[in-house]
Formats: sequence, C-alpha cells, structure tokens
Amino acid sequence: MLYLYQIKSFLIFILLFCVPGQDICQWALGHVAVVTGAGQRVGKAIAASLHKRGYTVAIHYNESKDEAISFMAELNSIRKNSAYAFHADLSRNVRERAGHLLAEVVEKWGRLDLLVNSAAIYYATPIAETTEEQWDKLLDLNAKAPYFMTQAAAPYLKETHGSVVNVADILGERPNAPFNVYCITKATLIMITKSLALELAPENWISKTPLGRARNGEEVGDTVAFLASPSAAFMTGAGISPSGGRTVAL
Ligand SMILES: *[C@@H]1O[C@H](CO)[C@@H](O)[C@H](O)[C@H]1NC(C)=O
Repeated sequence: MLYLYQIKSFLIFILLFCVPGQDICQWALGHVAVVTGAGQRVGKAIAASLHKRGYTVAIHYNESKDEAISFMAELNSIRKNSAYAFHADLSRNVRERAGHLLAEVVEKWGRLDLLVNSAAIYYATPIAETTEEQWDKLLDLNAKAPYFMTQAAAPYLKETHGSVVNVADILGERPNAPFNVYCITKATLIMITKSLALELAPENWISKTPLGRARNGEEVGDTVAFLASPSAAFMTGAGISPSGGRTVAL
C-alpha cells in the first residue's frame, strides 16, 4: 500500500515530454527523487518506474552495494547522469545520517522533488523469543528512518512543492503472527504518514482540506484513469482517496 502526501498545495506544472516511440510520458524530466533501499526488490522497482517517467534517481543502499552500482550503471546507460548510488546505514544515528544523505543528493543535483521511503527489514519475531535488539532494529529502519528522512527532506521539498511516499504494507493494518514486530513498525509508518501529512500541509486550509483547496474534476478523473490502467492491474479491493487529505484531518 502506498501512502502519499504533499508538502505543499501546489501541483507542479510540468511540460509533458512524450518521447516518440515510447509509451510513457517523461513528465518528470529534471526532477530528482531519492528512493531508500533501491538496490533490490520493491525499492529497485520503484526507482526504475520513476526513472522511466524522467526522474533523476538517487539509489540509496546499505548492504546491496553491488546491486546498487550495477543498477546505477543500467539507468545511466539509458539516460546520462540520471542515477547515482548513495550509501547510508539508516539503522543508527538516523537523524544525522538522513541529513547527510539528503545534503549529498541536493549538492549533486541541486534540488529534491520526491522522497520514497522504501527500505525495510522483515523477519519473524515469535513473542516468546523477541530480543530488544530485534525490536530496536526493526523499529529503527522501518519507522524511525522514514520519520527522520522526512524531517531532513522537508525544507528541500518545500522549495519544489515536492512529496513523500512511504511504502507501508497491508500488514500494518492486518497482523500476521509471528511477524508481530514488523507489523507494528508498518502500523507506525502509517501513522507517521498521516501525522506528517497534516503537520507539513500548507498553513492556511481552505475548503477544509489539508492541501488547502478544493479538488478539481481532472484530478478525480486522472485517479480513475490510473485505476483503470495497466499500472493499477494489481490493485483490487483497495481504496485510494483524491480528497486533499480529508482522510487524515479530524
Ligand atoms: C547496514 O549494513 C551494515 C554492514 O553490513 C550492517 O551492520 C547493518 O545492520 C545494516 N543496517 C541495516 C539497517 O540493515
């Protein structure tokens, strides 16, 4: 499940760069995204999809160095200087490391438009055997890191009217024993997303939405078009809400 929120109410107006012969419009050319845990699995898939839309991507990795480097080379062979791999262990000194990581990205490319918090660890912790170390490690990477990455990213995202996407999991809403601690971390991430969506929303709410404006019909139409598209082929029985944040506002 993807939870998305926008730092600012303005939608970015971007020219559509439709490359002849390609079926995807590169509407994000010139925009910069950071994807954590992008060396492998879902993080890598997210970074690849963003890159296809034109994003320059910062591939964050910790232990998947070889995968991250070869992924970077692959993306750069498609478009020059469109990807770079950044290392950080986000399970310790998280606040400081998140700050360094994002400062490095902005130093390299001059801006930040999107943060995707995807890095996570996943393993069973039967209640009788869970150690404090496991608890700390799971919470630190899966919840504390996205929180402090968002804190560090917020000033940059404000400048570009950018967004944060947190990759949660249905297990954040429906438990799967004995993955209890993992489920707890994802429930925490969902609340981090909702809380920060409110706190980082524009100051003046209009129309009682955190994004400070009423919706326009096109945005609803585009959401429907997305749901009907091949991109949403794996979505069923799930809700998506183009409501300007009314799902989180009291
Ligand atoms: C990052 O990698 C280091 C070195 O392999 C390891 O000790 C640490 O646990 C990793 N951090 C996470 C969050 O997996």
